[in-house]
Amino acid sequence: MKITVRLIVSLLFVAALVAAFFSFYQVRAENKRLTSDLERRTIILADSLQESVKALVQNNASDKLKRLVERFGNRERLKGVAVYDGQGAVLASSPNLDPKNPELFPQVVSALTEKSPVSASAHIDGENIYVYIVPLEDDEVIGAIGLFHDASYIDVRLREIWKNNLLRFFTLSALIVVITIVTVRWSITGPIAQVADWMKEMRTGKGKIVQPAISPKGDLLAPLISEASQLARSLAAARTRAEEEARAKVGSAWTAQRLKEHMKIELNGKKLFLVSNREPFMHVKDGGNNKCITPAGGLVTALDPVMRICDGLWIAHGSGDADRETVGAGDKLRVPPEDPSYALRRVWLTKEEENGYYYGFSNEGIWPLCHITHTRPTFRLDDWISYQKVNEKFSEVLLDEIADEEAPLIFIQDYHLALLPLLIKEKRPDAKISLFWHIPWPNPEAYGICPWHREILMGMLGADIIGFHIQFHCNNFLDTVDRFLESQIDWERFSVTRGGHTTIVKPFPISVAFDAAVSEQPDADRKKELKVSLFKKIGVASEYLGVGVDRVDYTKGIPERLRAVERFFEKYPDFIKRFTFVELGAPSRTHIKRYRELTAEVEEMVDRINWRFQNKSWKPVVFLKAHHGHEEITNFYKGADVCMVTSLHDGMNLVAKEFVVSRNDDDGVLILSRFAGASRELADAIIVNPYDIEEMADAIQLSLTMDAQERTARMARMRTSVKEHNIYRWAGNLITSLARLRLPEEGCNVERSE
Ligand code: G6P
Repeated sequence: MKITVRLIVSLLFVAALVAAFFSFYQVRAENKRLTSDLERRTIILADSLQESVKALVQNNASDKLKRLVERFGNRERLKGVAVYDGQGAVLASSPNLDPKNPELFPQVVSALTEKSPVSASAHIDGENIYVYIVPLEDDEVIGAIGLFHDASYIDVRLREIWKNNLLRFFTLSALIVVITIVTVRWSITGPIAQVADWMKEMRTGKGKIVQPAISPKGDLLAPLISEASQLARSLAAARTRAEEEARAKVGSAWTAQRLKEHMKIELNGKKLFLVSNREPFMHVKDGGNNKCITPAGGLVTALDPVMRICDGLWIAHGSGDADRETVGAGDKLRVPPEDPSYALRRVWLTKEEENGYYYGFSNEGIWPLCHITHTRPTFRLDDWISYQKVNEKFSEVLLDEIADEEAPLIFIQDYHLALLPLLIKEKRPDAKISLFWHIPWPNPEAYGICPWHREILMGMLGADIIGFHIQFHCNNFLDTVDRFLESQIDWERFSVTRGGHTTIVKPFPISVAFDAAVSEQPDADRKKELKVSLFKKIGVASEYLGVGVDRVDYTKGIPERLRAVERFFEKYPDFIKRFTFVELGAPSRTHIKRYRELTAEVEEMVDRINWRFQNKSWKPVVFLKAHHGHEEITNFYKGADVCMVTSLHDGMNLVAKEFVVSRNDDDGVLILSRFAGASRELADAIIVNPYDIEEMADAIQLSLTMDAQERTARMARMRTSVKEHNIYRWAGNLITSLARLRLPEEGCNVERSE
């Protein structure tokens, strides 16, 4: 609007100036014309009177002079005629002429003395009078004739001109105002507003039209609109690209289906050979029957969904007491029993082998060696011998299975089989081998205490790819190799080259499947019911539920957790009778003394804490020492207010991620140890130092008093993270890296990027 007003004011000002200028000149010209016309007529009249008046004055014929004057005085616009003698006295004058006035005219005197006509304007009786005095000469001046014309019609005419021009100016002004408003609206502000609206729509993403709804042709905004259209087209193209990319991203989110499709291409009909100590399905005797159970632990949780998709062969120790009875030809069976998707080949170990290799070297040696938890590793020569033997046994089975496969893809798991990569590579250099180390890797000093530290490293370096959960463990590993082996370390590519063979060392943070996320979101009533049923099941009446799910292992920080729960009740007695912590502890490696001691320690602590705080219907802690099924664990995850993962040291810890996945209600709080690899990804958990009991007690209090909105926001963010970084992505990345490896025989031994 401002521009319109400014334009109108400017135009009116200019129009007023022009109108005033031309009116002034018109008035001046008209005035001149009318005045000269009057003059001319007066002179003619004076001329026509001159001779007869002269004669009458010379003859002193005053009566005749009077009559003549009266006769002439009646003429149109002639106010009157006066005749003067040589001295300027009035001899005769028209009756309607005030007799005094003419006498007073100094023009009469000047005409008589200068002997030439004199004209002037004068106001007589408020009227504008044109006076013309002409001397009467006869050798000398004998008098003068005075003609008095009414000139007020000139004023009237001039005023009329002003009035008309003013009227024209006002009309013009009105037209200027209207035309300006219409033109500005029509051609400037209107189109600009339309362009602005359209651009806003484009910007905010509502508009899909890249051309505004106005025609830019011939318009003064045409160049602007054409440029803006170009801009809009670029913007629309960029947005479409971004949307497509986003769609592609969402579409390419790693799912079971995507991994399946991906593996079809990457494996190109090849089988995947997965080798681990622990088998995904174990048959155990249960009364008179055989029962199939899924062993506890992150390895199985993570890899079973991958193998279901890849349909390969999983080779593992058959450790169940009913395992031998349940295999078919070649010690194989299809699993899972309810939906057979891949083959499991069981490797049989003797009691001695199991003792030395599994309990001894793996779990009393390497396990505490790699976990910095102040449990001293034990290294016995016999165990080491068993370890080597069992690794050889596994290699024989594997070599047998891959005998007919060209460039087989081998995926070895964990610290039990550290020697296997080299054993295979020596026999089958064409095999593409990856080793995933599911536990942490310590610094060289800590690792170096193992008497066979070099042999283990050499065995591992038979792999083409070694994966850890986090970069920190990769760095420790490379440092360790650098310290103990003659090799070439490439810190840029994170690889080790030794004896002409290169091993790439990369982080692959393991995860869980996110399929549980699609299950129906429970409503508030069902959640309540679930909690009530869980409390009923464990025989307590309580309000808040805390949960811990672990193998009973000293690396998990279970005693520290219980101490924190006890301290929590001391610090926040309001929660006595209102909070119950349930530990679902799966007995693990119970042939090892340290594990038995731990179980006893936990049981003793649970007893002590309960003794201290419990009443008839309520207990502060419940220890469910058993092997729990997936469904049962999930119910506890879903019903819990807080889940505690307090590992003293952990490669990743998938309990943390499973808890997050199960919370499709976006609720529940996770307390997570900063020494678990998962803490790198799940930053929205309450991160704690498990050795700091005060901090953990406060974390429990914080989790139970946390604002619902914050709980939801944190959980939603964690769920997004796990959803994106799920097990399918992990497997996709790792297997792709493996499948795309070019070994020296194939021309080079570098990893090709995805
Ligand atoms: C950890 C190890 C796995 C192991 C699991 C269960 O997660 O990294 O290799 O399978 O614990 O332990 P277990 O000794 O019962 O196999």
